[in-house]
Amino acid sequence: MFTCRFAMHFSPLVLLCLVGLTAGQDTSLSAVKRAFEAADIPNDLSITFNPRFLLEVTLPQPTGASITLHAGVQLPRNATAGPPSFAVAGSAGAGPFVVAAVDPDAPTPQSPTSAQIRHLLAPNFAARNNPSADIHPLVNSTAAISPYRQPNPPAGSDAHRYIFLLFRQPAGFNNQTLVTPTTPVQLFNISSFAAATRLGAPIAGTFMLVAPNPPAA
Ligand SMILES: *[C@@H]1O[C@H](CO)[C@@H](O)[C@H](O)[C@H]1NC(C)=O
Ligand SMILES: *[C@@H]1O[C@H](CO)[C@@H](O)[C@H](O)[C@H]1NC(C)=O
Ligand SMILES: *[C@@H]1O[C@H](CO)[C@@H](O)[C@H](O)[C@H]1NC(C)=O
Ligand SMILES: *[C@@H]1O[C@H](CO)[C@@H](O)[C@H](O)[C@H]1NC(C)=O
Repeated sequence: MFTCRFAMHFSPLVLLCLVGLTAGQDTSLSAVKRAFEAADIPNDLSITFNPRFLLEVTLPQPTGASITLHAGVQLPRNATAGPPSFAVAGSAGAGPFVVAAVDPDAPTPQSPTSAQIRHLLAPNFAARNNPSADIHPLVNSTAAISPYRQPNPPAGSDAHRYIFLLFRQPAGFNNQTLVTPTTPVQLFNISSFAAATRLGAPIAGTFMLVAPNPPAA
C-alpha cells in the first residue's frame, strides 16, 4: 500500500496521482500533455512539450508484473530499481532515438539547488517493428552515456518528479562531448543540452512521482 500524500505539494497532481494508481499505461497524448502542464514540467524544464507519440516506460519488479508508467503516477521507491525498458506507440519511424530522464526537484521541490539530476541519458535506440500492435519496443545498440539511476529523494523531501523524454537523435549526436560518462549528474539542464546537441523538442514523454522511503517504524 502507498498513498499520494507526498504529492500534496503539486496540488493539481493529486487527482492525477489517484487516477494513476489504478490506470495502466498512458493511452492519450492530450492527457499526457495535460499532466505535464498540471505538474508545471514544460515551464520547469524550459521545454516545449507537444508529444506526438506515447512513450512507454516499464519498470521490472522483483516479483509480479512489471509496471508501465502513467503520466503522474506515484510509485514507492522500491518499485523503481529498474533499469526501465522503453517502447513507443505510434508511427515514430525506426529511429535512432535518445531517451533522457531528469529530476528537477533535487534535493527538494521547494529548493532545487542541485537540479536537474540526470537519471538517464541514452542514445542509439531503434524502434522494433511490431506486427501485432502499434507499440514498438526501443532497443539500444550502445551503452548509455548516463546509465539509469534509481530515484533517491532525501528523507523529509516531498515527492520528486522523474521525467522521461524521447527525442529524435540527430546525425553527429554520438560525437557530442558536452556530457560523457564522467560528467557529474547534478546541475544538468535538458533544455540547454537539447539545444546545444540539436535534439530539438521531445517527441514523447511521461513521468512518475517518487517520495523518500518512509521512516523505519
Ligand atoms: C516495497 O516495500 C513495501 C513495504 O515494505 C512492500 O510491501 C512491497 O512489497 C515492496 N515492493 C517491492 C517491489 O519490493
Ligand atoms: C543497452 O542499455 C542497457 C541498460 O543501460 C545496457 O545494459 C546494455 O548493455 C545496452 N546495450 C548495448 C548493446 O550496449
Ligand atoms: C563523428 O566522429 C567520427 C570520428 O571522429 C567522424 O569520423 C565522423 O565523421 C563524425 N560524424 C559527424 C556526423 O560529425
Ligand atoms: C536551462 O537552460 C535554459 C536555456 O536553454 C534556461 O532558459 C533555463 O533557465 C535553464 N534552467 C535552469 C534550471 O538553469
